[in-house]
Amino acid sequence: MDYSQALNKLKHYNQEHILKFYDKMPKQKQEELLKQIENLDLEQISTLFKNIKNQENKKTKVEPIEYVDKEKLTEEEKKEYERLGNETLSSGKIAAITMAGGQGTRLGHKGPKGTFDLGLKSHKTLFEIICDTLKKVQEQNGVTIPWYIMTSEENNEETVEFFKKNNYFGYPEKEITFFKQGQYPMIDINGKILLDENGLVKQAADGHGGVYIAMQKNNIIEDMRKKGIKWVVIGGVDNVLVNMFDPIFIGMYIKQGYKSASKSVVKKYPEEKVGVFCKKNGRPSIIEYTELSEEMANDRDENGELKYGESNIIVHIFELEVIEKISKNLLPYHPAFKKANYMNENGEIVIAKEPNAYKFEAFIFDAFEQLDNMSILRVNREEEFAPVKNSDDKGVDCPKTARELYKKHFQIKE
Ligand code: UD1
Repeated sequence: MDYSQALNKLKHYNQEHILKFYDKMPKQKQEELLKQIENLDLEQISTLFKNIKNQENKKTKVEPIEYVDKEKLTEEEKKEYERLGNETLSSGKIAAITMAGGQGTRLGHKGPKGTFDLGLKSHKTLFEIICDTLKKVQEQNGVTIPWYIMTSEENNEETVEFFKKNNYFGYPEKEITFFKQGQYPMIDINGKILLDENGLVKQAADGHGGVYIAMQKNNIIEDMRKKGIKWVVIGGVDNVLVNMFDPIFIGMYIKQGYKSASKSVVKKYPEEKVGVFCKKNGRPSIIEYTELSEEMANDRDENGELKYGESNIIVHIFELEVIEKISKNLLPYHPAFKKANYMNENGEIVIAKEPNAYKFEAFIFDAFEQLDNMSILRVNREEEFAPVKNSDDKGVDCPKTARELYKKHFQIKE
C-alpha cells in the first residue's frame, strides 16, 4: 500500500490524522506505518466504537449452567475419574498453555506478572509456582508435559530472559515454548485511532481470547499435533493454588465426553470481581463481572445460593481439534477504558494520568459459545483459588492473602 492509497482508506473513516507526521518519519517507520494501515480493519474499529456508545442489549437468554460439585462425587465416581484422568495424563497427549500476556496493572508490579515474587522464603515467583504443578505430573505420571507460554509484544523479551536466568526452574528447556499474542489498535473517546510515541498506530494486547489465533499464526497447533497432543489445558498466570492437572477434573471431562471443560469455585459475595459461568441462548458461556447486572449478581435460587455463582478460575481444557476450529472464527471484542500515553495532533507525547482510551480485548471463554455444551467441575475454593490481582493495600486477592492460602495449603511454616 502506498501513501495515497493509505490516505484514501483512512479518509473514508475520518482517521487521516494517522498520517499527519508521515513526512517527518524515518523511511523504515514510514513503511511500518503503511503496513499497519494496510492491516487496519477500519470498519470493525468503527463498529466497535459505535457499540461502546450504544451497548445494545441483544436478545440473549441467560440461564444458570449445570455443574458437578467435586465434594458431592461418590467414592466410586472419584475413583473412576481419577483412574481415567491419570491414564490421560500418563498418555503424553496433554499440553499446557499459560496465558501470561496480561499487564498486571492492578498489582503494580513492574515486569511480566509471572515474574512476581510471592514473598515466601523460597522466593518462588508465579511462574515457578506453575512450573511446580508441571513437575508434579513428571513425578506422578512419568511424563513431561510440553509447556507453552503466551506472552505479549510488551513482555515477551523480559519473560524469555527471566526463564533463562532462572534455568527454566529445572524444567527441560526443550519442552518450553514461548509465543506472542496479537495486538489491537487503541482509540480515544472520539473513536480516533491513537498514535504511539514513534508516530505509529498505538496498539495493545488483544486479550487472552487472542490465544486461539496466536496458536494458529505461531504454528503452535501444528507443533502440538506433531507431538501427538490431543488435549490442551489452558490457565492464567496469577492463581498460586492452580491445580490444572487434577486427575479427577480431567477424568470427569473425558467421561462426560464434551469438547471442553472448566473448573469453577463458589462466588464469595455478589460483587466479587470474577466472571461467572452461565448459558447464553442455551450455550455455555461466562459473563464477566464488568458486564453482570446488579440484579443478576444478587439473584439467588431456592437454596439461597447465587444463581450466577459458579466463578471462573481460568482452568480450562480443550480438545486440540476444537482449538483449531475456534481459531478460524473471530471472537467478539470487549472494550476496556484504560490509561494510554500517546502522541497528540501537535506531535507532543501525552502522559495519561487518568483513563483516556479504549483497548479492545477478546476473551478466551467467548469461544465456549461455539460449543454445544461443556463440563464444569466446582472445586473447593480454599484449596484451588488464591489469585494475585491487587496490591496489598487493597486487602483482597493480593500477595498477602494469596501467600497465606498458599502456606496453609502446602503446610509451610515460616
Ligand atoms: C479474570 C477473568 C475472570 C476470572 C478471574 C479469576 C477475564 C476477562 N476475566 O479476571 O473471569 O473470574 O480472572 O481470577 O479473563 N491475559 C493475557 N493476555 C491478555 C489479557 C490477559 O494473557 O491480553 C492473561 C493474564 O496474564 C492472566 C489472565 O489472562 O493470566 C487473566 O487476565 P486478567 O486481566 O488478570 O483478568 P481478571 O480481570 O483478573
